[in-house]
Amino acid sequence: MAITTCVFDAYGTLFDVTSAARRAAEQPGRDALAGVWQQLAADWRAKQLEYSWLRQITGDYVSFWELTKNGLDWAMERAGLTDPVLREDLLALYWELSAYKEVPFMLAHLKARGIQTAVLSNGNRDMLEGAVDSSKMGMYLDKLISVEEISMFKPAAQVYDLVGKHFGTARDEVLFVSSNGWDAAGAANYGFRTVWVNRMGLPVDRLMAQPDLILPDLSTIPEVL
Ligand code: LAC
Repeated sequence: MAITTCVFDAYGTLFDVTSAARRAAEQPGRDALAGVWQQLAADWRAKQLEYSWLRQITGDYVSFWELTKNGLDWAMERAGLTDPVLREDLLALYWELSAYKEVPFMLAHLKARGIQTAVLSNGNRDMLEGAVDSSKMGMYLDKLISVEEISMFKPAAQVYDLVGKHFGTARDEVLFVSSNGWDAAGAANYGFRTVWVNRMGLPVDRLMAQPDLILPDLSTIPEVL
């Protein structure tokens, strides 16, 4: 079936999750962060994801915003950072993460071709709205779909079900795009057509299913349809 709907993961895919720590490190008086921001950003992201999977397994759901704070607290402690103002600033920056530079043009191109577009994310709805508003992408996205509706995290199949619930689409008319290998595997296993955006040249995850296509960034998504 032809692709009618293009669905994007948010964090790491449309939005650069390292941009909060990088931008904080660039601010004056942030010497303690300047040398460790890359490790902090990596730890923050790793713990945020790890906690989402573990809480999904045990059924102890808390919102992605809570996990984002939990992950940051772990990462700051590991880095020896204790400044509460820095913590608040990093969290505030998470609501206005930078979008990857090719994103607006790519989305505009999809809309011009009549493709339905959406975000499907573990993020809270208000987090997604904040990031989309600050990057001025709202006009190119038909829906922001948050797992908050069902209190579960990807890669649970019930999360991917939300796309059909919102759009009435069959699985094979959806192109799902994620930079997270595990998310692309979950979506491919579910029956979506899948692109893994592999910005860092990593090996393919050995998981349930493999993506249909691997791209270095999002710029050629309109062409692959
Ligand atoms: C998301 C995370 C997993 O946006 O990147 O769902």
